[in-house]
Amino acid sequence: MRIKVKQALSAEQPLTGVTISGWVRTRRDAKGFSFVELNDGSCFRNVQAVVDHTLPGADQLMEALTGASVAIVGDLVPSPAKGQKWELKATSFALLGRADETFPLQKKGHTVEFLRTIPHLRARTNRLGSMMRVRSRMAMAVHDFFQRRGFAYVHTPIVTASDCEGAGELFRVTTLDPVAPPRTPEGQVDWTADFFAKQAYLTVSGQLEGETLACALGDVYTFGPTFRAENSHTSRHASEFWMIEPEMAFCDLAGNMDCAEELVKHLVKTALVECLDELEFFNAYVDKGLLERLRFVADRPFARVTYTEAVQLLLQSGRTFEFPVVWGENLQSEHERYLTEQHFKSPVTVYAYPKAAKPFYMRQNDDGKTVAAMDVLVPGVGEIVGGSQREERLDWLVAAMEAHGLDLESYGWYIDTRRFGSVPHAGFGLGFERLLMFVTGEGNIRDVIAYPRTPGHA
Ligand code: 4AD
Ligand code: MG
Repeated sequence: MRIKVKQALSAEQPLTGVTISGWVRTRRDAKGFSFVELNDGSCFRNVQAVVDHTLPGADQLMEALTGASVAIVGDLVPSPAKGQKWELKATSFALLGRADETFPLQKKGHTVEFLRTIPHLRARTNRLGSMMRVRSRMAMAVHDFFQRRGFAYVHTPIVTASDCEGAGELFRVTTLDPVAPPRTPEGQVDWTADFFAKQAYLTVSGQLEGETLACALGDVYTFGPTFRAENSHTSRHASEFWMIEPEMAFCDLAGNMDCAEELVKHLVKTALVECLDELEFFNAYVDKGLLERLRFVADRPFARVTYTEAVQLLLQSGRTFEFPVVWGENLQSEHERYLTEQHFKSPVTVYAYPKAAKPFYMRQNDDGKTVAAMDVLVPGVGEIVGGSQREERLDWLVAAMEAHGLDLESYGWYIDTRRFGSVPHAGFGLGFERLLMFVTGEGNIRDVIAYPRTPGHA
């Protein structure tokens, strides 16, 4: 019977006649037998197999180099070695797939930059393997959080005709011939001849469709891929990333901020309990302050300030920032990092942003200058959540859409939610990769997703 390394290492009692299959991390040869360190990806740790050179199949043992795949049958017995409870005393050995000396992941330290050049192999390292396990567990913890609260998991379209954020950072989806597209009599590209009979794009956010579903189901969330053609060459921007977007009917900005804070804390707490081996690794090799920071975050309320207060704090800080602090402009990454890392030394939710800096759908505050927007900023990353209460008043929404130059006709479906039984509602987007950076201490978004897509790289 095949068991995984994780099961083997957590066994309650010795087991006989089990098979453990995996990839060789190292092999050490002694006289008459070898130690094989095996990892199968099921957990952080390896299991050690002791393989006698006279066993069936052991003639191939010398070809089992680092990276080779093997299946070892044997008995799980208490290990005399330090730091491991069990080892596998082999009764037979089989080499499944050779890996020669050109296997790039020989046992030595590798830089993250090098590992990025081999995305198809790097998940076999401790660092990326740990990341993939944390990523999987965090994805399910997102579902746990919302499912337990009675949210419906909805699937919003990936191909869409609207630009939710209004930033024009869209990837076009077309089947037209790029060399000779059909043209109108005026010489423009004739998009009515395209696949969807109009211009179509990959979604930058499922929010607008999410709002229509929240206005039917109450509480919903999406968790899916999101695409942005922004030419940002930073460690925190990817062109393809995953976003969690709850949308809640009968909810205001305060309820929205509470939900975002509780979600982030739930994910941090889950990681501390269920991914501790991985977090200890990240704490030791990637970010020494990680565990302390996560434990701190899990237990305390986030700071909460208005945008106007945040601007005052930045102006009073005595710092010279690369980008000047001006009321009315969006906060830059350096400003966000100052607030969360230096000033509050804790996650902070900033709310009530100037309306000119924000998209059309945010609810206007009574001061006429700000909207009911909120961002959650965390140490080491900056913004991980962006959201708002939505403008539910029909006339206000239409005025905002006109002010943003939107074509009201093509958004008729969205405006309908305000025409028929409009309700106060709110929601936010949590960037899944940014959350993973926060939970693991990884400093670059390219190292928290298996196949990162960034400008110039696919
Ligand atoms: O602040 P953003 O642009 O908000 C929205 O898209 C809203 N429609 C969400 C909503 O209210 N339903 O993006 C939300 C979050 C950001 O806070 C950030 O964590 C992440 O998505 N994000 C990115 N992550 C990686 N790479 C990028 N290029 C990202 N852009 C945004
Ligand atoms: Mg944002």
